[in-house]
Amino acid sequence: MSGVIIGVESTAHTFSFGLVTDEGRPCKSYSALYRPEEGGIHPREAADHHSNLASQLISRLMNEESLHPDDVKAIAYSQGPGLGPCLRVGANVSRALSQQWNIPLVGVNHCVAHIEIGRNQTGCVDPVLLYVSGGNTQVIARAGERYQVLGETLDIGIGNMLDKFARTQGLAFPGGPKIEQLARDWHQKNPKANVDLVELPYSVQGMDLNFSGILNAAIQKVNEGFELGAVCWSLQEYAFAACIEVAERALAHSGKSELLLGGGVACNERIREMARIMCEQRGSVGTWPEKQYCIDNGTMIAELGRRMLETQNPTDLDYSAINPSLRTDHTIVTWD
Ligand code: ATP
Ligand code: FE2
Repeated sequence: MSGVIIGVESTAHTFSFGLVTDEGRPCKSYSALYRPEEGGIHPREAADHHSNLASQLISRLMNEESLHPDDVKAIAYSQGPGLGPCLRVGANVSRALSQQWNIPLVGVNHCVAHIEIGRNQTGCVDPVLLYVSGGNTQVIARAGERYQVLGETLDIGIGNMLDKFARTQGLAFPGGPKIEQLARDWHQKNPKANVDLVELPYSVQGMDLNFSGILNAAIQKVNEGFELGAVCWSLQEYAFAACIEVAERALAHSGKSELLLGGGVACNERIREMARIMCEQRGSVGTWPEKQYCIDNGTMIAELGRRMLETQNPTDLDYSAINPSLRTDHTIVTWD
């Protein structure tokens, strides 16, 4: 294979190396997931996990993709947002490889990378992105040279809410897929159920969302004796409906006609179904990449790096510092 861009992702739990070809054809990512033994993420432990695995992951990528360093045209990495110690590992590894192989370095915005891999994979052109992950929940649309945040969570990310609820029920990280399974199993046995059975707060405020209230209420419902599967099902119904409502309003306000899902929670079949139904009802198109490109992955970082290098200079070492609080709308979008 000749002419690839490597992408390095290390914003939080996931440490991942992926690549795209010069033309933007993506390959699978080589990833490792840090799973805390108990409690939430410990940034320094996660960073240790990442640095311990760096050389193994990059060797696997080079060997399994039959790559020689001469094939690598550039290296992209997540500059932010994310956890400082984790971001620093990815940035350091990328700087080292850029120097060793004498190739350009490009720091990218992780949130924007979720959009660009979605556009690459689905062919949508000018979508509203519903970005639902552990750390982020945002509704985003392009306005001129920025991706503008039209609405977002005012407290925790939806995935973080699901993971926290799962943890209170003894379910290990990541909790989202386990909640999906419990909800699906329960709903198959109770197909006529409706959302009044386990009533939870609805968390939309204009274009913004919040998830702490629904998290506490769901824990309370289990403590009151409601079946866990029933609570999981209701939790998904309420939380996903809130996201889809904001996404629908964003489509209406922006006049755009494509909805793109991205982020780890976009792996969930129920939120996809809700997106599909909402889009059908308003004559829009709902679309999403396959699961490996919804969760954090190095390939999406490579793809954004590739797009940026079409129109921008590489990142100078002096400007390569990480930025844990980088905002989606900070990045100037110079590519099509
Ligand atoms: P970001 O830095 O963009 O916030 P992240 O660090 O949260 O990303 P992702 O891989 O994008 O990482 O998302 C992980 C989240 O996705 C976790 O909260 C996980 O529980 C959730 N998730 C993964 N699969 C599913 C699923 N099938 N249903 C619901 N949630 C899911
Ligand atoms: Fe992410």
